[in-house]
Amino acid sequence: MNIVEVRGLTKIYDGRKVVDDVCFEIKKGEIFGLLGPNGAGKTTTVSMLSCLIYPTSGDAVIEGKSIVKESMEVKKRIGVVPQEIALYPTLSAKENLIFWGEMYGLAGKKLNEKVDEVLQIVGLTERSKDAIKKYSGGMKRRINIAVGLLPSPELLMLDEPTVGVDPQSRTNILETLKELNKNGLTILYTSHYMEEVEFLCNRVAIMDAGKIIALGTKNELRLLVGERDSLKIATIDTVPEDFKEIIKKVPGVSEIQIMDKSIEILTLHGREILTKILELLADKNIKVKSIEVKEPNLESVFLHLTGKELRD
Ligand SMILES: Nc1ncnc2c1ncn2[C@@H]1O[C@H](COP(=O)(O)OP(=O)(O)OP(=O)(O)O)[C@@H](O)[C@H]1O
Ligand SMILES: [Mg+2]
Repeated sequence: MNIVEVRGLTKIYDGRKVVDDVCFEIKKGEIFGLLGPNGAGKTTTVSMLSCLIYPTSGDAVIEGKSIVKESMEVKKRIGVVPQEIALYPTLSAKENLIFWGEMYGLAGKKLNEKVDEVLQIVGLTERSKDAIKKYSGGMKRRINIAVGLLPSPELLMLDEPTVGVDPQSRTNILETLKELNKNGLTILYTSHYMEEVEFLCNRVAIMDAGKIIALGTKNELRLLVGERDSLKIATIDTVPEDFKEIIKKVPGVSEIQIMDKSIEILTLHGREILTKILELLADKNIKVKSIEVKEPNLESVFLHLTGKELRD
């Protein structure tokens, strides 16, 4: 069963389609990933789905309700974790949660129980009396997630919830989301970190310049790249841009990305062509620091589809 059905969703700003005819479905119980670089249109998409802004055209149906015609109904049914943290720094975590809980229409004993429950889920019960301004970036992010859980939603939408978070908090957040999903929560997870989406999501939509450029399970997306390996060579010396032309001539090389001190090649025969590439580098006196041969991942899918790196 689909909990979300997005149909031709479009947003135009200043004559520019920043979200362009986006269509996808989210099945009940899955973690759906929306992966894309900065400016792809992820936040704009999530803002439309959570009824914060109106689409220019198109619609989405969430739990049977239209975001265009029944936005109040949609708002009641979803939890949202926005990209920007919306917490009062001088209030304690608990006070912030009580404030937001009241906004969601909770009160009295029910409110208190819910606040305690979400604090427990994000693992911050012990620190709940501290003012938010004393929290680390990762802790603030976790409270931000706790706010999203206050309305006991069936669907939680998170917009890059791990940006600016230390690795330990990040792992903690991802594990928490996996656990919530195991207990039945459907999740829309937006990120520009391929590793997070690989770890969390069942199905993934890759977004670039307002458009969904690929959609499927991780395996389906990997097949788009073919059975190709990604060969990553880090160098000590800078690789000249014209080195691309030289590598292109090596049989089996299909795509090349050169970035200052690294070369990334998509190839059918990662290990076989490695010797040849190393010879070519030696000819140019470019010293190699490390070599990595990887099977296709979402990063290589993105590179394959757009010719660019996913990272900023
Ligand atoms: N209110 C606005 N007015 C005009 N342009 C906007 C507005 N909001 C977003 N945009 C533009 O829409 C495009 C998509 O922005 P959006 O914030 O949705 O991208 P994103 O994928 O969330 O990026 P990031 O990873 O940086 O958060 C960008 O080019 C942005 O400049
Ligand atoms: Mg964004």
